[in-house]
Amino acid sequence: MAERVKVAVVGLGFGAEFVPLYQRHPDSECYAICQRNEESLNKTGGQFGVTRRYTRFEDLLEIDEIDAIHIVTPITEHAPMSILSLKAGKHTACTVPMGVTKKECIEICEARREADRVYMMMETAVYTREFLYAKELVDSGALGKIQFLRGSHQQNMSLPGWPDYWYGFPPMHYATHAVSPLLAISGKLVDSVVCFGSGKIRDEYVKRYGSPFAVETALLKLRDSDLACEVTRSLFDTIRQYRESFDVYGTKRSFEWEQLAGDGAVVYSGFEDSERVEVPDFGHLLPKEIAPYTIRGVYDEEHEHTSFVQGAGHGGSHPHLVHEFVRAIVENRESTADAAKAANWTMAGICAHESAMNGGTRIKIPVP
Ligand SMILES: NC(=O)c1ccc[n+]([C@@H]2O[C@H](COP(=O)([O-])OP(=O)(O)OC[C@H]3O[C@@H](n4cnc5c(N)ncnc54)[C@H](O)[C@@H]3O)[C@@H](O)[C@H]2O)c1
Repeated sequence: MAERVKVAVVGLGFGAEFVPLYQRHPDSECYAICQRNEESLNKTGGQFGVTRRYTRFEDLLEIDEIDAIHIVTPITEHAPMSILSLKAGKHTACTVPMGVTKKECIEICEARREADRVYMMMETAVYTREFLYAKELVDSGALGKIQFLRGSHQQNMSLPGWPDYWYGFPPMHYATHAVSPLLAISGKLVDSVVCFGSGKIRDEYVKRYGSPFAVETALLKLRDSDLACEVTRSLFDTIRQYRESFDVYGTKRSFEWEQLAGDGAVVYSGFEDSERVEVPDFGHLLPKEIAPYTIRGVYDEEHEHTSFVQGAGHGGSHPHLVHEFVRAIVENRESTADAAKAANWTMAGICAHESAMNGGTRIKIPVP
């Protein structure tokens, strides 16, 4: 592709984080932006100097110049928009999760195959500096053989102020931040899952989704592997500092996520030696124009924008995600979080919730 990839970003809450990255990446441009509220749309357009502004997602599908659409809208919109985007022949990136049902995930895989376009689930957890550090330990052989992995995503959304659709959301329906690092580090997919629900959230939250559990905790059996992993999720009425974590245990070394934010991760080695490590940034893997965005809180003078507005918690992952999506398009290859992987990562959580609702029965993950 001689020209820069023309990307439209849809949904400009969290989505606004990605606009300056597409603008600065040497192989892309932010061609258009879209969100329903015109006033907010114009505000973001003005902030970043994007002149093509749309309030209707469907209008983007008609524009031939647009090569790719990055969807950052509320969860229930992810699958319908991804399918429409692929069917319109657009390369498609979507924030997590891929969808909210097994059927949606499978339909996106089919739409991607038919469209023969790049699909990428923009999973921040597989591009954090901690993930890249642990992956390096595994790939270099420093960790030895992986024996076990554990992931968690604990958040307390019981406070007012979140969009209404969140309250009562089944924790495992948004499990990809806890599941994906385990699978991306081991290079495996989930075969089957058993999950138990624990505790109970307040009645007013239970009503919307009929999901009563405060915590859902799952065991994933990996396909073609001797590994099993453990995943814990909580969303309401359970107290814990925010955490999206993973631990990897190996025969030579083990990596454990920090206990409190800012403590630093721990690497275990020798017999029972332990060392707190300062995990580095991985900007050197990126074009120089976007490499500074791996560091927290970069102030962009031209656009009067600080990149940590929503990105600080995501471990410097945003520029890596943009780079991978754009390069997959330019190199005409699958992305690292392609449809088949994204479907497995997402359906592991959907099936885990199904298992919990059925008292812990073992559920096989469909192969799309
Ligand atoms: N670490 C991560 O990967 C991460 C972090 C934050 C949010 N997210 C995901 O990003 C998504 C958006 O989160 P948010 O906090 O910005 O939500 P939000 O509700 O604040 O913003 C949603 C945006 O989508 C727009 N939108 C909604 N429906 C639309 C439609 N039909 N057409 C065009 N635009 C539409 C809204 O105008 C708004 O700009 C969520 O699905 C969330 O799960 C992921």
